[in-house]
Amino acid sequence: MDQLDGKVAVITGGAGGIGLAMAHRFRDAGMRIALADVEAGALDAAVADLGGGDDVLAVECDVTDLAAVHGFRDAVLARFGAAHVVCANAGVAPTGPIVGTSVETWRWVMDVNVMGVVHTLDAFGPTLVAQGDGHFVLTASAAGLSTTPGLGAYSATKHAVVGTAATLRAELEGTGVGVSVLCPGLVRTQIFESERNRPDDAESHTDPATAQMLKGIIDGGADPAGIADAVHAAVVEDRLFILPTTDVTGMIRARLDAVAAELPA
Ligand SMILES: NC(=O)c1ccc[n+]([C@@H]2O[C@H](COP(=O)([O-])OP(=O)(O)OC[C@H]3O[C@@H](n4cnc5c(N)ncnc54)[C@H](O)[C@@H]3O)[C@@H](O)[C@H]2O)c1
Repeated sequence: MDQLDGKVAVITGGAGGIGLAMAHRFRDAGMRIALADVEAGALDAAVADLGGGDDVLAVECDVTDLAAVHGFRDAVLARFGAAHVVCANAGVAPTGPIVGTSVETWRWVMDVNVMGVVHTLDAFGPTLVAQGDGHFVLTASAAGLSTTPGLGAYSATKHAVVGTAATLRAELEGTGVGVSVLCPGLVRTQIFESERNRPDDAESHTDPATAQMLKGIIDGGADPAGIADAVHAAVVEDRLFILPTTDVTGMIRARLDAVAAELPA
């Protein structure tokens, strides 16, 4: 998509972090913006931050709830009449070694990071394909392309997102709908405070030592605005992989090399 001015960007998990940075980047490109998030207060602040007005829509929406995501899609189409760049970005990152991670935690992170993406594709996929003009951006992570001890459940979900994006791109070739997958390393956001987003009725399980360590290093992470610039460029240039940070180059290369070393001749 090389022409974004006047079109509609849809962003789940858009009330903060990388999602809000993408909203600013697409707003700067002249797009109308629709945000979905579970955090009502942060959504209000995001709308104000983006300048408010008729060109910014915010809907409180839990991506684990298919009906709610369909409701969000309906609200977007009612307000703007179309959706073009759809960013399935909402995510959570519980920490801790796989042995000891509760099944409830697995379900939560799978529900948000995988089924949240599935629900977003289910809601917006037919709209974009019928339009023959659009782009999906699925937020995965470098953890979807490498080995990350202490983030096993998270890493599993992000591998699923990478696989979904690559397959979707191949399947949509020639339809006018592009697909990109965002795989950054550390970015300065609240991702390692995701326990705030865990449903109240779920059993809480997170490894405090790992969470504390990750919170300590995330301050040295990349600026979300730079990540949003990379997303914007990938949409305009229609590229699959968005690898905007250098901190994970060695990890990803190690994975690719390990696979390549086992390939039969
Ligand atoms: N920050 C990093 O280092 C990093 C690195 C790689 C990938 N990511 C990915 O980037 C995406 C955005 O995360 P972030 O880093 O901006 O963190 P963040 O916590 O600042 O933002 C995540 C947003 O998702 C929302 N959210 C959580 N659960 C939700 C749900 N069920 N329904 C709707 N919204 C929900 C949160 O309220 C929040 O606004 C995530 O998918 C994350 O896995 C982050």
